[in-house]
Amino acid sequence: MNAVPRALDTPTTTPLVVHESRDFRSYHAFLRAARNFMEGPLVGAMHDAYERRIHDQGGAAPADWRAAERVLDDTLEFQFYCWAYRNLQRFKYHRPTLGIFATLEAQRAALEAQLDATARETPPECLRLDPQLKLPEYFEFVPFHQHTGGVAKDALDGLAYEIGRRTTVPSHGDPNGIYRILFEALPQGRYARVLDWGTGHGAALVTWQRLHPQSECHGVDLSAPCLKVANQRARENGMRLLLSQQDLEHLDYPDAHFDLIFFNFMLHELPRSHTQALLAEACRVLKPGGLFAGHEFHLRPGDPFQNVLQRSHAYTNNETYSIPWYDTPIEALGRAAGFSSVTIEPFARLNRSVQRPGRAPINANHWNLYQFRK
Ligand SMILES: C[S@@+](CC[C@H](N)C(=O)[O-])C[C@H]1O[C@@H](n2cnc3c(N)ncnc32)[C@H](O)[C@@H]1O
Repeated sequence: MNAVPRALDTPTTTPLVVHESRDFRSYHAFLRAARNFMEGPLVGAMHDAYERRIHDQGGAAPADWRAAERVLDDTLEFQFYCWAYRNLQRFKYHRPTLGIFATLEAQRAALEAQLDATARETPPECLRLDPQLKLPEYFEFVPFHQHTGGVAKDALDGLAYEIGRRTTVPSHGDPNGIYRILFEALPQGRYARVLDWGTGHGAALVTWQRLHPQSECHGVDLSAPCLKVANQRARENGMRLLLSQQDLEHLDYPDAHFDLIFFNFMLHELPRSHTQALLAEACRVLKPGGLFAGHEFHLRPGDPFQNVLQRSHAYTNNETYSIPWYDTPIEALGRAAGFSSVTIEPFARLNRSVQRPGRAPINANHWNLYQFRK
């Protein structure tokens, strides 16, 4: 199949706007500021408390995350960090007036009507929805990120996810910045046909298409509500994205179809029991020499303090599969799935540290860049 021109010149639909009250906007600005505080000064204060306790207990540095967790567990700073992480995320969706769900609910009829109208006027090959698709159990029953009900059940779940990411993504301003950082890190090339592996609301694919108008852009996701938002944004941007509702484990594309498959925030959301099959399917649809690449957060080697914080997100943010993900032998699974090379390296541009004058910086997060070559 030959790639055809994709980018349209002019928007093909009216922009969909969710009306946000001033109170809503200030509340969500507060949530963003709170996250910045938690990831910066609070991490510094937590580390100070950690060092004080180690000193008080005789000075031996914790050998692993279990020992570090015992030190951190009853510090006020760590308890506050965990409370704030869990509950601010919960408030973000659920507060009766200022939460995302209430704001969308008040506009439900108009928002659903516009998403549906745009879907109806979309050429069928650009938005393939499959009402019969059986959602995998590992996905269907997990409210990732505390998005109650998950992202695939309610018609407005895609919009809730799109708004929610503004106060989740570690970008401090532009939630699409993380996609550009990934794309800049990949080997530069023409990439005639690309797939966004778990495209969600489609923002990464829109970002890619803007940077690479020559690429034929495909996006797959389990969630119809998310794909409808991705379609809406594509058409507002005058783009011809090819979106389809499929399970990444059973794609309907022919073998050797894509030059590049990229992913954002995906590996930690997949259970270990399915990872091998998912990788094998990605490898099947890649051309020989093609690239499967993305970023993911992980434990920072040899840093028990960071490991405790990173592990705590599994509980505070309902990241059900992230703890097993940290132990997943992804390199071996990638090779077993058919990739000829697997490169995993720290993704320095995503890693932020808390600076302390005259002392070593504290690394609260850790991201890797994964590149699998067929
Ligand atoms: C954490 S979100 C990431 C979304 C998007 N990549 C982004 O950058 O925001 C994970 C996405 O993967 C989708 N997903 C999870 N498992 C999937 C599967 N087996 N097949 C297709 N999509 C899947 C979810 O519906 C969700 O939209």
